[in-house]
Amino acid sequence: MSEKTFYIETLGCQMNKSDSEKISGILENMGYQETSIPEESSLLIMNTCSIRAMSENKAYSYLGVWKKLKKKNPGLKIAMCGCVAQQTKEKVFAKAPQVDLIFGTQNICELPFLLERLNSEDRVCSISKTPVDVDESCNPNRREGISAWLPVIEGCDYFCTYCVVPYTRGRQRSRMPGDIIKEARQIASEGFREVILLGQTVDSYGNDIDNPDINLANLLKELNNIDEILRIRFVTSHPADITDELIYTVRDLGKVCEYFHIPMQSGSTEVLKRMRRPYTREEYLELTGKIQREMPDVGLTSDFIAGFPGESEEQFGETLSVLDKITFDHCNTAAYSPRKQTPAAVWKDQVPYDERKRRLNILNKKVREVVKKSQEKYLGRTLEVLVEGFKEEDGEIILTGRTRSNKIVHFPGDKDMVGTLADIRVKDTSIWSLIGEIRQLHNLNKS
Ligand code: SAH
Ligand code: SF4
Ligand code: F3S
Repeated sequence: MSEKTFYIETLGCQMNKSDSEKISGILENMGYQETSIPEESSLLIMNTCSIRAMSENKAYSYLGVWKKLKKKNPGLKIAMCGCVAQQTKEKVFAKAPQVDLIFGTQNICELPFLLERLNSEDRVCSISKTPVDVDESCNPNRREGISAWLPVIEGCDYFCTYCVVPYTRGRQRSRMPGDIIKEARQIASEGFREVILLGQTVDSYGNDIDNPDINLANLLKELNNIDEILRIRFVTSHPADITDELIYTVRDLGKVCEYFHIPMQSGSTEVLKRMRRPYTREEYLELTGKIQREMPDVGLTSDFIAGFPGESEEQFGETLSVLDKITFDHCNTAAYSPRKQTPAAVWKDQVPYDERKRRLNILNKKVREVVKKSQEKYLGRTLEVLVEGFKEEDGEIILTGRTRSNKIVHFPGDKDMVGTLADIRVKDTSIWSLIGEIRQLHNLNKS
């Protein structure tokens, strides 16, 4: 074991992954080195997700394995952060006594001070409700690649009745456009070619700032002017916050990809009401219909929950029937999981566990059919692809990239093409990816 090495295990969404990049940047600044081998570290960090019981349990099972490492090496420090830490606070110590440090989603910048405290204290726990910005200058240590995450809005004000995020991430807070653009320029200068703007409800960007000009559409317009950036994406969109202006901006800006991740959650207006989702089935269909009319090649993905409390068989059927109407490119699905602090968790009309699983299986089968259909529509088409990486297969270089609609494409080519745009003709499809051949390469600055 080296003197100061750390390993981070990251569960959960892209926001958590982006947080891990911040943590890594802070630790490297302190002279730590990142390793991919837990056995070689002096500090292990578990960045947790509490969206479902399964994700929370996963964190504790990692901690169980790490407990054994600590037995062999008593000097090892174990830290827990992320959404489970934010919700459970010092109670984590009772459940997992091997943990030395707990820090919340708002306390990342405090990390140097917390680690210092660990030199004289057995256990340290720091959880704040609002961000503790001790060091504004902390530079994320971004994962290598072509694509970089850029958080633009944190937290969530929607309080859907099933969801922990407002409790684990706090109230909605938009960053100032100037700070975002500065960071995007930095990202471009580091060699990244795509930025993915992150937010739990990214399209409500700016709603919490008293200036109507600060919104996602205007931010996209500014980011579109950064030369080295070839592509811009944003996730996750809340159906109630997608404006016509945003739709037209995505349609018209050269670098902004025609791709929307818009979780619907349920196809039943009644269930949506109880979920506290402020739209109806019809409004969602109208919104996605409009997006598809404006951008026929748009990529559309969604999230659905099966077996929400009180969901009848018929209402579940309404979710399935949405999949007959919209050919989504992908859908994340989950059986409803009761979560502490959320209202729905204590409702009396819970759908039994086995029934939730049964509905999830039916939903997954339907999603697979729809995704297959969405892949097949690309057959024979030529699409713009940003080349993101490669692998060697039997001596041949196989490049991997994404279409503007976010479909993964594999095709033979040259390693030098990574980070550039190319037109690829789709020859074959599978459920996971498209298989293609190069038609034409683009210049670096095409937009
Ligand atoms: N901000 C996004 C969703 C973030 S959480 C939005 O508003 O749509 C990611 C997904 O996890 C959700 O879309 C939902 O489908 C799922 N999810 C959240 N809480 C859940 C729960 N208690 N049980 C099952 N799935 C849940
Ligand atoms: Fe959760 Fe709803 Fe906020 Fe999405 S909008 S993060 S589902 S509370
Ligand atoms: Fe999970 Fe927290 Fe993200 S609960 S989904 S890691 S915001």
